[in-house]
Order: sequence, then structure tokens, then C-alpha cells
Amino acid sequence: MTAAAIDPVDSVQTAADATRKAMTESIISPRFYSTDYAAMNRIDVSPVRAEWDTMMAEFEGDNNQDHFQRTEDFTSQIKTLPPELQQEFLDFLISSVTSEYSGCVLYNEIRKNVDNPDIKQLMTYLTRDESRHANFINQSLKDFGLAVDLVGLKQKKAVKYFKPKYIYYAVYLSEKIGYARYICIHRQFEKHPELRFHPIFRWFERWCNDEFRHGEAFALMMRAQPGLLRGLNTWWIRFFLTAVYATMYVRDHTRPLLYEAMGMNIKEYDFKVFRITSEISKQVFPLTLDTDSPGFRAGLDRLHQIAIAVDKAKKEGGVFNLIKRVGLTASAGITFLRLILHPVIRHDLPVTVRTAPAW
Ligand SMILES: [Fe+2]
Ligand SMILES: [Fe+2]
Repeated sequence: MTAAAIDPVDSVQTAADATRKAMTESIISPRFYSTDYAAMNRIDVSPVRAEWDTMMAEFEGDNNQDHFQRTEDFTSQIKTLPPELQQEFLDFLISSVTSEYSGCVLYNEIRKNVDNPDIKQLMTYLTRDESRHANFINQSLKDFGLAVDLVGLKQKKAVKYFKPKYIYYAVYLSEKIGYARYICIHRQFEKHPELRFHPIFRWFERWCNDEFRHGEAFALMMRAQPGLLRGLNTWWIRFFLTAVYATMYVRDHTRPLLYEAMGMNIKEYDFKVFRITSEISKQVFPLTLDTDSPGFRAGLDRLHQIAIAVDKAKKEGGVFNLIKRVGLTASAGITFLRLILHPVIRHDLPVTVRTAPAW
């Protein structure tokens, strides 16, 4: 186990612990967002109208309507997990329910605050899907007696304001990387069904197609506003790609036992997820990060090592460790900046925006 794995003092024993964990604000924990609803109300999707209408027909068709129904597997098939693995699995579920619910709250707020029919209708579908996802995960937490208080979370969790363009970059990436993560886990259990230690993983394949489609909506919204994808904005794209990839890399390394139980190597899994996400994101971003280059990989490892050192200094406390943390935070900032400046791979954008979930 690495030093950044879950400490026993952070362990989740009660539903209050689960909600407290979901409420926690840290650099790698999922957050809640708000945005400029009036600006979102002005989005004109006419440059991508044909593809937009096809996508909206798919949302309306709702092919996952009957998918998020629990079967008796949830009560009969759950094995008792070793306590440390159970904590990492709970951490995974709590972070997942928080990010599903974060999407649900944001989409619902946009829905309530716009009257642009295209955006309002889209947000209605997105809210529907994310609410299903969040409730489905929370039921699994409930099996452990550890459901997160979603109403309390909505009332009390800090909400961060993001300009619409940052919402497009960040939400697009989180939907697409969510697809890539779930499909890789699904493929692994297809090959090794004996490793599937919880029934929820059987839902991932159809589930991630929802996330893929959510990403398509943001791709179309961005392609309808081409200014977001060129000039100085490409630096914002580099920033968000780097932030999303680095966060995932550091966070996954805090769950070594979870990945071991799934029979996966964390680094191999993460780089595969990055490759899939980068491939998909060529539909909208004119550049991808060179995640397979040794320099980029070394930067991610450096961030991981700094995260371990910060965690250790935080736990030990004291003035000396406080100074140490300031230094570590500065070197994390420099490492992150170097990753943003690392040479990227440039692409032309395809004429047809939409792409299929083919992984
Ligand atoms: Fe979702
Ligand atoms: Fe989603």
C-alpha cells in the first residue's frame, strides 16, 4: 500500500461519516458548481442543429429507462470485503455519488434558470440521468448502512462559481473520462468475472453510455461556439485537460487495494483511460496531451509523490510541517505548470462532431 492510501482515522463507519466525507473539500474531491445561467440561456445551437436533434431524439428515447433497477444480487451476492479494501471501495462509492449528484444539481439549476428551449430540454434529460446514477450508487452505500445525505449535501456543500466556458471544458471532460473509466472497468470484469466483487459493476456498461452521451451534448455546445476552441482558449483547454488527468492520477493512487482487487495496475489503467479520453476529445479540442511521453509521466509521478508528502506533513502537524507544506504546495504548482507547458499533439477538428462509444 502506498503512503497516500486511506488512513484509518479517515475511515467511514457511519452514515454521518459518509456524508462528512462527501462534504469534504480537497483538491482531489468532487465539487459542486454554479454558473452564469443568463449566458447559458443565450447559447444558439443552430450551427450544429442536425447533430443536436439526432442526439436529443436519443435522449428522448431513454434506452436506459429500465436499467437502474436493483436485482436481488445486491442482497444475496455481496461478499464481506477485507476492512481496508472495504474502506477504499466505500471511498470510491462516496466520491462517485458526490460527483454524480454534483452533475445532477448543476444541470437542474441550469434547467430552472433558462428558458432557451434547447438548453432547458437538454438539462431536463441530463438531470434525469444523473439523478438515477446518484440514487443507484447511494442504494449500494445504504446496503452498508452508509447512504450519503444528498439533501443535506445540497444544502451545505460549498458551491464554486465557474464561468460557462470553464463549465463546458470541465464538465465535458468529466463526462468523457467517466465513460472511459467505467468502460475499462467493465472490460476488465468481462475478461475476469471472478474478480467482480460487487454487483454494481454489472451496471457499468450501459451506465457509461449515458455519460458518453452527456459528453456529446457539451461537445456540440462547444462546437456551436468555435471561439471557445481556438486562440488563447486553447490554454484553458490545456489547463483543464491537465487538471482533470492529474486529479484522477493522484486520486486513483490513494486506492491501491481497490485496483489490486479488480486485478488492475493503477498506472496502466490510468494511461489507458487517458488515451481513450484523448481520442474521444479530438471531436472538440484541437490538441491532446502527450500522456505517453516520459516527461509527462514523470510530472504526474512527481505530483503523486508530493501528494503523499503533503498528506504525511498534514498528519504529523506542527510548525515545521506547516512550512514544509507551503514548500510542497509551491513545488506542486510548478510541477503542474510544467505539465501544462509540456508539448501537446495538435489536430484538426472533424467536420462531423459526434462520435460513437466504441471502446
Ligand atoms: Fe452520471
Ligand atoms: Fe453524466
